[in-house]
Amino acid sequence: MPTLESIDLRDKRVLVRVDFNVPLTDDRQILDDSRIRAALPTIRHVLANNGACVLISHLGRPKGEPDERLRLAPIGARLAELLPDHLVLSCGQVVGEEAREMAQQLPAGGVLLLENVRFHPGEKQGDEAFARELASLGEVYVNDAFAVCHRRHASVYALPQQFAPERRCAGMLVQRELQALRQVVEDPLRPLVAIFGGAKVSDKVATLRALADRADRILIGGAMSYTLMKAKDLEVGDSKVEDDLLDTAREILARAGDRLWLPSDHVVGRTQGADPGGRLARDGIAEGWSGFDIGPETVARYRGEIFRAQTLIWNGPMGKIESDDYLEGTRRIAEAVAECEATTVVGGGETGEVVRRLGLETHVTHLSTGGGAFLHYVARGTLPALEVLGEG
Ligand code: 3PG
Repeated sequence: MPTLESIDLRDKRVLVRVDFNVPLTDDRQILDDSRIRAALPTIRHVLANNGACVLISHLGRPKGEPDERLRLAPIGARLAELLPDHLVLSCGQVVGEEAREMAQQLPAGGVLLLENVRFHPGEKQGDEAFARELASLGEVYVNDAFAVCHRRHASVYALPQQFAPERRCAGMLVQRELQALRQVVEDPLRPLVAIFGGAKVSDKVATLRALADRADRILIGGAMSYTLMKAKDLEVGDSKVEDDLLDTAREILARAGDRLWLPSDHVVGRTQGADPGGRLARDGIAEGWSGFDIGPETVARYRGEIFRAQTLIWNGPMGKIESDDYLEGTRRIAEAVAECEATTVVGGGETGEVVRRLGLETHVTHLSTGGGAFLHYVARGTLPALEVLGEG
């Protein structure tokens, strides 16, 4: 398959699908620009080789029509700051006359950011006619949007199929992700330890099933613990539970057996009324209380397993990290992941955010830009949008 380095980019308009789906404040300030920065190596490579970049991205989940709060203008402004030596233009359209004209007039070394691709109904539908319109804006296609490669949306699935194989490839961010993830998915050094947290079992069923078969140890934290605990008839008080997933949870527990560990103590809060904060519960959680973090005994057990690992996969926080009262479990686990000798791969928006907040991002082997895409890849070892590029 061609690589970005092997394609002649001189005087070409290169359509680069990026994932600039960054968190914004209510007044549309960018909270974390790491996804924009992560795409810079590919963009800079195109520009340095006298190509021009036509960038395609989504932001949030608009309903196939323009949504003022999800325009890409703040992202265009940040991109211009990050590329001070280049012309960086934003277009108010995804496709159409204005987009066509701006793309045609874009000089080599210039960047054009198209409007949020999900404003067009054809994007989510994977529509071919829409993909053809997008394809008319460039001569080469590069997918550097790892975090959306689990979707069969037009800009990552139908669009590359509009280009001859020698004119399409994966970008540098995608290559970096694949290199790191292949290592832990295809032939991990053992013990392979997986840490799973976050709110829902439902987001992670396929990944949990796959790791129930493959991992030497699975450590569970976060609100998803309570669904698994309830499936084992343990007391969870008023903690969040996905009752419709109890059978699935039982199946995962049976598959993993004693390789799967659940928290044995919890930091709990009052479900109603004033929360005293920082109370501990052992042997289950009483009525009137909800679990919000793993307790110190669980932290110690889990850290022991993390330091034994040769390969470690982590997705999802151990507690309700938006409150400082419930951050400790996640912090202690993050520190162990950063300190251990294993190859460590961390994925998911919240997990990445907490690792960055604690200043530990350079202490993990790989911090993935993917959330759903990361989970999909760990479960299946491939992603639909990469398969169409021959990178599956
Ligand atoms: C993400 O944030 O995981 C990606 O940008 C994909 O977004 P989506 O879940 O809305 O498709």
